Amino acid sequence: KQQVMEQTPDPAVRAMLAHLEAQGVETLFDRFDAQKPQCGYGLAGTCCRHCNMGPCRITEKSPRGVCGADADVIVARNLLRWMAAGVSAHGARGREVMLALKAAAEGRFSRPIAGVEKVRAVARSFGIDDKGEEGNVTLEQLAGRIADRLLEDLSRTVPGPHGTLAAMAPPERIERWRELGILPISAYHEVFEALHRTGTGTDGDWRNLMTHLLRCGLAFAWSSVVGSAIAMDSLYGPPVRQRIAANFGALKAESVNIAIHGHSPVMASAIVQAAESPELVARARALGADGIRLYGICCSGLSSMYRYGAVHPLSNAVGAELILGTGALDLWVADMQDVLPGIMNVAECFHTIVVTTSDSCRLPGAVHIAFAADHGNLDQADEMAHRIVAMAVENFPRRQAANVFIPETSIDAEIGFSVENILADFGGAAALAEHLQTGRIRGIVNLVGCNNPKVVYEKAIKDVADVLLSKDILVLTNGCASFPLLKLGYCLPEALEKAGPGLQAALAGKGLPPVWHMGECLDNARASGLFRALADALGRPLPQMPFAFASPEWSNEKGLGAALSFRLMGLNSYHCVPAPVFGSDKVRRFLEEETEALLGSVMVVVADPGQLGERIATDLEERRNQLGL
Ligand code: SF4
Ligand code: FE2
Repeated sequence: KQQVMEQTPDPAVRAMLAHLEAQGVETLFDRFDAQKPQCGYGLAGTCCRHCNMGPCRITEKSPRGVCGADADVIVARNLLRWMAAGVSAHGARGREVMLALKAAAEGRFSRPIAGVEKVRAVARSFGIDDKGEEGNVTLEQLAGRIADRLLEDLSRTVPGPHGTLAAMAPPERIERWRELGILPISAYHEVFEALHRTGTGTDGDWRNLMTHLLRCGLAFAWSSVVGSAIAMDSLYGPPVRQRIAANFGALKAESVNIAIHGHSPVMASAIVQAAESPELVARARALGADGIRLYGICCSGLSSMYRYGAVHPLSNAVGAELILGTGALDLWVADMQDVLPGIMNVAECFHTIVVTTSDSCRLPGAVHIAFAADHGNLDQADEMAHRIVAMAVENFPRRQAANVFIPETSIDAEIGFSVENILADFGGAAALAEHLQTGRIRGIVNLVGCNNPKVVYEKAIKDVADVLLSKDILVLTNGCASFPLLKLGYCLPEALEKAGPGLQAALAGKGLPPVWHMGECLDNARASGLFRALADALGRPLPQMPFAFASPEWSNEKGLGAALSFRLMGLNSYHCVPAPVFGSDKVRRFLEEETEALLGSVMVVVADPGQLGERIATDLEERRNQLGL
């Protein structure tokens, strides 16, 4: 923690950590210190608790578990279970939106379908006739068919082609995946099978387990991520490019303050709407506030921000407690994922009401307002959101000014980048691809992922970005890793100063920042869409292109899935924090070397962020050489 307090790059975070330390409020960073030293078996991936003959751990004296599983099998099984959890996490969130899209299509949801262009474009990709025999297929009917297709790909049990993958993935990749025998049936099936084969006495072949890891990676990419992203853009519409104030200083003591935390846009969108209610705004004013203000924590905050504006990005999941520590939040609404239980310890020190809305994600001490497609109450989203915002307003007078501490640091950021609006800016993929061809832009890196107290909070992301930009590598970002880039000015056109002369020339006169913020973690789909469009424009397969994925500070199961899904596309993934695979030379070599022949990509781990950035740049140059660029 001491190191974080001294070295984390955002001065507001440093100020807040010092404040909470002085107040004696425990945070994630204290708990990380308390966990040290961390279990060596866990770090190496060589402990197993899959059955009750164990737990077993692999040592020189006992190289096999009770059942006979060796280090390779145990490491592979553990990794596969993480992967399955990642597929479920993004998939569960996507399912909610797919069901909401279906409900909207059938008139059971209060929101109109906002993504008119998206629905039509997806229908065309899916080969769904948007004319109809009599030329009268409605937008709702198209959206309903898309929702059915996405849900079917998510949950199919009878073997059959994965429709989204077949329609959207590059043909060269599909062929490769077919040869490897890893085309998925559905997300549900591959998760089911992952739990099956990692169970006691089932798959004892580490390599076969790795094959299923790859299969899960494809289910992750094409159902959990792309499927979910299609549903979101279809229902809620595309991102809107805009400028927004970020960081602690955007938090106004005069307002009723509500944080939106989690991942599903369904409740978050309803909250944004409710916060505009004239009745609630009037009530807030009557109670002495100047209005109602919304803030984004983690991903649902980011996706609300780029659709509706006025949701100020404050922090990723790991820093959530620091935002609560301001004492200035009147209500904190959380739906699902990356809502770390520790937030309650800090919330309890203040008047802040925490509201949970998903039955999958409850916290003792929080008010639970159960909302989900499973409750059949999607049509009540607006009414529930109204109730939640009203609770915030009524809680405002309970805030104690003496307890409020808000670091002043604030900065604007350009947000809302999508494949569509980027290509429109450049007048098509070919024009942007030309910058790659001429070498003004040396490569493009999707710099994303979570945070992890194993490295200095937010510093690895910043350090990697600095190296990449200086070497004329364009950066895309989303999710938790995007917060330091938002907060430290990387998402402003002025940040072009940090870039080398080539990148500066490529973006000059466009008013664009050198880091393009694409939204929340699920918006990896936008990055892969842009990569695909540029590869197609140059007529080259993705594994040859100077693109990469980097998640220097990754920590959770979805992060594992994200990195793997880009490797499946043929792009290397780069990290400062290693995966727990050191206990098995075979599994490690598979991920770090052997997938080069299978997928055209590998996992690269370099602990030092500056060196990781250098390594990415070197590898991209190597790809350029191979391409003859
Ligand atoms: Fe031990 Fe095997 Fe049971 Fe794992 S599955 S706990 S290695 S006996
Ligand atoms: Fe996320």
